[in-house]
Amino acid sequence: MLIKSKTDIPASEITPQSIYQERRRFMQSVVNTAFATAVGLAAPTWVAQARGIAPSTDTTKKPFFDLKKSPFSTDETLTPLAKIISYANFYEFGTDKSDPMTHAHSLVTRPWTIEVVGEVEKPGILDIENILRDFAMEERIYRMRCIEGWSMVIPWIGFSLSELIKRFQPTSKAKFVQFFTLSDPQQMPGLKYKILNWPYTEALRMDEAQHPLTLLSVGLYGEQLPNENGAPLRLVVPWKYGFKSIKSIVKINLTEQQPQSIWTAYAPSLYGFYANVNPQVPHPRWSQKKERRIGEFFKRDTLMFNGYAEQVASLYSGMDLKKYY
Ligand code: MTE
Repeated sequence: MLIKSKTDIPASEITPQSIYQERRRFMQSVVNTAFATAVGLAAPTWVAQARGIAPSTDTTKKPFFDLKKSPFSTDETLTPLAKIISYANFYEFGTDKSDPMTHAHSLVTRPWTIEVVGEVEKPGILDIENILRDFAMEERIYRMRCIEGWSMVIPWIGFSLSELIKRFQPTSKAKFVQFFTLSDPQQMPGLKYKILNWPYTEALRMDEAQHPLTLLSVGLYGEQLPNENGAPLRLVVPWKYGFKSIKSIVKINLTEQQPQSIWTAYAPSLYGFYANVNPQVPHPRWSQKKERRIGEFFKRDTLMFNGYAEQVASLYSGMDLKKYY
């Protein structure tokens, strides 16, 4: 199903790279100064309540209204917001599930831009405020399955990645889409531990990236994304293990060759490029047949492609998914 956008972003709003870099240097210095006084005040209302702190006065964290609910949504029970925030993987803030909640307040999410480069006719930069204004946001309630064996049901807010990609006009050589997370040790204390080859990167095949299920998320539970979950913009690919859903994206690069991701570079035998949820292919260290839904006691069966086989199985027809795991 095709998700339509409200309006097209005029080419004039895609800033040329040179002008952007100068502007960003200036804005970053202003923000760094302001940030010291703003820490802790930037949480949106529900999120602040879930964390047990005062609600936000930050107007950049405006809630979303009148969201259309995507037909892709599941009607399974939602994972409570407090769990989504406090049980997170965001290694730039530490490796414990609760580390993002403790440390991610230091992430500065305004100003924020996403640079699109590589095999595109019109490389350029989009500001998050333009994205929030110009793309038609909808609510998509997706099942999420982590390679570690737990799962959640999250009411994401966002729009299809394909909508963003087409604005930059991919060339015929564009076969893969690579993503980069911000890498700033000032804001991300976990970066001082060289456990991974930072920055966090991920990649999809072009047809996966353009699939209507593939979401760029800017919010959850009706408000803009909590820092813990990848503010201000992250990827959500619900039929793949969670590590493909890269957080806090600053750059997108369209390539001809298949790129490495942070996890395939770290341990290719443990983390495949495709990372499709597949109960038939065990992780070398554990089975993937079952999962524990966060908040539930009993384990449940893991479904092929995380239950999205009807929509995505055809992307992999003829492929040996034991080899291309
Ligand atoms: N993105 C970045 N930049 N850094 C990370 O450590 N962890 C990944 C993914 N995206 C990660 C990331 C993993 S392992 C998972 S399971 C999901 O984020 C978790 O998303 P959630 O914390 O919002 O549930």
